[in-house]
Amino acid sequence: MHFALYVLILYVLIDFYFAQISAINPNTSISSPTQLRKRHCQRCISGNSGILNDMSVKSQTISLNRQTTTFNHPKRFIEGWYWAIPSRKVRRSQVKPVNLLGKELVIYRGKDGKLACFDAYCPHMGAHLAEGTVEGNGLRCLFHNWKFNASGTCIDIPCLGKNIPIQLKTWHVQEKYGLIWVWTGDIPKQPLPFVPELENHRCDSLLGSHFEKNCHPNVVMINAIDAHHFNTVHNLPLEIIFTKEQLNKNAITFSNITRGGENSFFIRLIRPFYKNAVTYSMCYWYGSTGTVTVGPDFLHFHIMFALRMTENGKTEGQTILITKKRRGILGWLLNPIVLWLTKMVGNYFAKGDTKIFKTIKFDLKTPLKVDHAILQFIHHVDSQKTLAWGSWELIEDRWKEEDRIWKLKGEAND
Ligand code: FES
Ligand SMILES: [Fe+2]
Repeated sequence: MHFALYVLILYVLIDFYFAQISAINPNTSISSPTQLRKRHCQRCISGNSGILNDMSVKSQTISLNRQTTTFNHPKRFIEGWYWAIPSRKVRRSQVKPVNLLGKELVIYRGKDGKLACFDAYCPHMGAHLAEGTVEGNGLRCLFHNWKFNASGTCIDIPCLGKNIPIQLKTWHVQEKYGLIWVWTGDIPKQPLPFVPELENHRCDSLLGSHFEKNCHPNVVMINAIDAHHFNTVHNLPLEIIFTKEQLNKNAITFSNITRGGENSFFIRLIRPFYKNAVTYSMCYWYGSTGTVTVGPDFLHFHIMFALRMTENGKTEGQTILITKKRRGILGWLLNPIVLWLTKMVGNYFAKGDTKIFKTIKFDLKTPLKVDHAILQFIHHVDSQKTLAWGSWELIEDRWKEEDRIWKLKGEAND
C-alpha cells in the first residue's frame, strides 16, 4: 500500500517536473504521460491523423452510419472455432459435458486418443450422453446402452439385436495450445486462430488465466485497438495509429504504424529496440479471439485472448501464451522464461480494464476519429456469417445479403 503511494507521489512529481520544463521551453520534446494524454486528445479532435483523411468528417466526431447486426448482440455469434475445454480434462476413455454458446455437447476421447464431439442428448430418449461410458473408440449411453461410433452412427442397440439407422449430430474438433476447439458450423472453412507472424513456425504455448467479464466478447476485444485508452487507463505515453489488413473473411489484423509518437522519456528508452514502427498488432478471429503481438524487435511476445459468449451476452475467456519453438538446450531453457515474461505482459494489459468491464453498457454514440479502428472492427464483425446462440442456426437473410456484398467485393478486387 505504502509502496503504491510512493509510486503515485513519484509519478505526480515527475509529471509536474516535465510540465515545468515544458512551460520554460515550449519546444521541448519531452512529454509526460499527462501531457501526452492531452496531446492525444487534441489529435482526436484536430483531425491531423492521416489515416482518416479519406473520411468525410464534419467535426471531431464520425458517424456510425448504421445499426450493428451481430456486434455486441447477446443472442448471435460468428460461425468459427471456439475453445470448448482444456485438453487435460478429457483423457483417454473419458467423456465430458460442455455447454458452448448455448448448446449442450459431449466431447470424448477414444482408446485411440482421438476426440469426438456430439450433441449431448441421446436420440433414443434424451439421456445426457456424458453419463455414458467410452467403450473402445465409441460412446455407450448409460440409459438403454445404445452405442455410437466416433462418427455418431448408432452401432449397437442391445435389446433389438440389430441396428436401425440412427445418426447423432457431430461437430468438428481440433486440439491446439492445450485446448480442445469446436467448429460451430458443418465444415470448417478457416483454420484455428493463430498468430500471423508465427503462421509457419512450430510453437510452444502455455495456458494463462481463465476469466469472466460482465460484457460481450466483442466489447472486450475492441479494448486492444482502443488506442486512446492506452494513454488514459494504462498510462502508456504511446501514440498509436492502426492500419488494418484482412487476412481472410474471418480474420483481420490491426497494426501500429507509428514510432511511438513524440519523444517522451519512455519513447526514447524503447526506440533503440525498434528499427521502424513500435510493434503492436492485434489479429482478430471470428470477432471473439484475438492475438496480441508486442515487444522489441529482438523478442516479440504473443498472447491469445480466446473468448466465448455466455448467457445474456457475457464473456468467458482464456489467455494463451505463445512463443515460437527454439531449438536445442538453449531453446529448452529460454522458452519457459519467454512464456513467463509473456504472462507478465498479458497481466499488465489485463489489469487496468477490470473495473470498466464490470459496469460498461457499450454504446458508441459519439465515435471520434481515434475510434476509427473500432468502427472497422464492428463492420468486420457484422460482415461475417452469423449463427443464433443456443441453436447454432444461420441468421439467414442478413447473411445472404452480406455474402452477396462480399462476393461483389472479391470480384472487384480480382
Ligand atoms: S436414452 Fe440413450 S439408449 Fe435410451
Ligand atoms: Fe486495456
